[in-house]
Amino acid sequence: MNVGLTTQILPASEAAVRAAARVLAQGGLVAFPTETVYGLGADATNPAAIARLYQAKGRPAFNPLIAHVGDLGAGMKIARFDETAIRLAEAFWPGPLTLVLPRTTDCAVADLATAGLETVAIRVPAHAVARKILRAFGGPVVAPSANLSGHVSPTSAAHVQSDLAGRIDLIVDGGPVEVGVESTIVGCFDQPMLLRPGGLPRGEIERVLGHPLLQPPEDAERGTAQPLAPGMLASHYAPRTPIRLDADRVEAGEALLAFGPDALPGAELAAAVMNLSARGDINEAAANLFGYLRALDARAARAIAVMPVPHHGLGEAINDRLRRAAVGRE
Ligand code: TXA
Ligand code: MG
Repeated sequence: MNVGLTTQILPASEAAVRAAARVLAQGGLVAFPTETVYGLGADATNPAAIARLYQAKGRPAFNPLIAHVGDLGAGMKIARFDETAIRLAEAFWPGPLTLVLPRTTDCAVADLATAGLETVAIRVPAHAVARKILRAFGGPVVAPSANLSGHVSPTSAAHVQSDLAGRIDLIVDGGPVEVGVESTIVGCFDQPMLLRPGGLPRGEIERVLGHPLLQPPEDAERGTAQPLAPGMLASHYAPRTPIRLDADRVEAGEALLAFGPDALPGAELAAAVMNLSARGDINEAAANLFGYLRALDARAARAIAVMPVPHHGLGEAINDRLRRAAVGRE
């Protein structure tokens, strides 16, 4: 393990951007803010750097990484974009959308980063700090969420620090992120398929396409051991405390993750209460989700009771992450 590294933390600045580009070029690991969650970046063309990245996160190497690039032109060097992919890229990049596309024959992204798949996941982030780091580095940067594998994704530099200090070289602190859930992943196969609901609502994508996105079939139905979205294991986002969904009351010893203005019976006895959005704003709820899950997880409650969250807009991604969190890690 690379535990024992000194992890430098720099507030976002031109000097921090230069330091980040330097560390990446030397094969090091840099956590940086994107608009969705903090990413842990490595040079996408450097297998040794990518091996260190998997090790630092404790992530299984069969789970491929997203290559982050500065613009569509840079993306076209590593993947083949069909008409639909170009339409989606032009509509939503930079932004919280990842496209899974066939690799080009001379794709510079290391096989280790794509877990040997014929496809590569690409995203052009919108966050100013991420964009500056990509520009200063000048090549594709693979970046999973900057958390230990199996933990919830980090939405602040402090979250990154608590998971990865001593395991990575640098954290660039750009403050709390805006969106709060990871990018939406669309597989650009014969028909575009929603591989992961995320920070770009499905409805916006379907409006541009003019038709619904396909749902991934169950892996068993495809008759293959190779999952379409290998990272979407049920246990991916689990806090240590058990999660109880669709709570209509709070039981003794539980913490409460609330949504909206209504009070829940028993809430006055809760071990802790956090409200994702007291005014019922789904975007505010997404931005608060992972931070509040981390905070309530630290309260050693018997369970975290979660009020129902509406499914519209970013609600689909919120409910997806909550459902995975509720499955537990084992
Ligand atoms: O918002 C985000 O997407 C953040 C920021 C840092 O960009 N990144 C992120 O990365 O969430 P990660 O590694 O935590 O999740 C990436 C997901 C995984 O579920 C992985 O299996 C899937 O993307 N993925 C990557 N390459 C793929 C491919 N070629 N085919 C299918 N799924 C892929
Ligand atoms: Mg992740």
